Parts: sequence; C-alpha cells; structure tokens
Amino acid sequence: MTAIDLSDGMLSKAIKKLKNKPNIKFMQMDIQSATFETNTFDTIIASYVFCSVPDPVKELKEISRVCKKEGKIILLEHVRSDNKIVGALMDLLNPLTVGMLGFNINRNTENNVVNSGLHSYLVKYLWFDIFRMLL
Ligand SMILES: C[S@@+](CC[C@H](N)C(=O)[O-])C[C@H]1O[C@@H](n2cnc3c(N)ncnc32)[C@H](O)[C@@H]1O
Repeated sequence: MTAIDLSDGMLSKAIKKLKNKPNIKFMQMDIQSATFETNTFDTIIASYVFCSVPDPVKELKEISRVCKKEGKIILLEHVRSDNKIVGALMDLLNPLTVGMLGFNINRNTENNVVNSGLHSYLVKYLWFDIFRMLL
C-alpha cells in the first residue's frame, strides 16, 4: 500500500495514526507530477483531495494513468450541492474557504470525473448531496 500527500505535516499525522500498520509506504508527492509508472495500482482511493488541487481534471487524468486498466478508483469528496439555494450559497462562500482554508466548496467533481475521461461510476450520497462517494 502506498500513501501520498503533498504536505509533510499531513503525512506525519497519517504515519502517527497508522504506526501499527507496517506495510504502508508513505511518500511526499504532488499528484500533478506523480512519479509512478503507468498502470501501477489495483485500487486508488482519494479522500477529500479534489477540492484543493489546482486543476482537478488534469489530476484525475493522472490518477487514471497510474491505475491499472481493470483497476478501481474510489473518491470521497465534498461537492457543490445540486440544491439551487445551497449551491448559490456555496458559490458565494467559496472565495472565503479558498482564501482561509485552501479548498473549494463548490466543485462539480462528477463533471470533472466525466471530463477526465473516467466513466461508469456510482455516486453514493453520504451527507445530504454534499459529501459523496464516487466509485
Ligand atoms: C482536506 S485534506 C484531506 C486529507 C486526507 N486525505 C483525509 O481524508 O483526511 C486535502 C489533502 O489534499 C492534499 N493535497 C492537496 N493538493 C495535493 C496535490 N496536488 N497532491 C497531493 N496531495 C494534495 C493536502 O495536502 C491535504 O492533505
């Protein structure tokens, strides 16, 4: 198992939490320039990452490249609500979350998945229509 994150601080937290699980290789890496070979992984799980990467379509293409053709990609994401009022509120607040916290709250990750060329996925709503699992 390989775990990557851009941030050393986040990796340190993960290493601390998972200290009893010996077979995990932790790597500091930017998914925009991943150094993995094409078709490397059987399964890729990304949790709450595509709200903060600069170009989600490009980065989704990159995880698609490193996943085996018959492999599985599972995304946990918070996304823009489909509700007109809640979605508009999220658009309004987005510059604040980007400026203060570094992530977007109004991304349409399902569209980004389609635009990246990934297909045949299921969407499970985990909390209203904002927290979703795409698989
Ligand atoms: C909201 S946090 C989620 C952290 C963790 N995955 C979790 O579910 O608890 C978003 C994470 O994405 C990482 N990240 C942002 N841009 C990245 C990139 N280009 N490549 C790799 N990781 C990135 C950040 O460092 C941060 O740890």
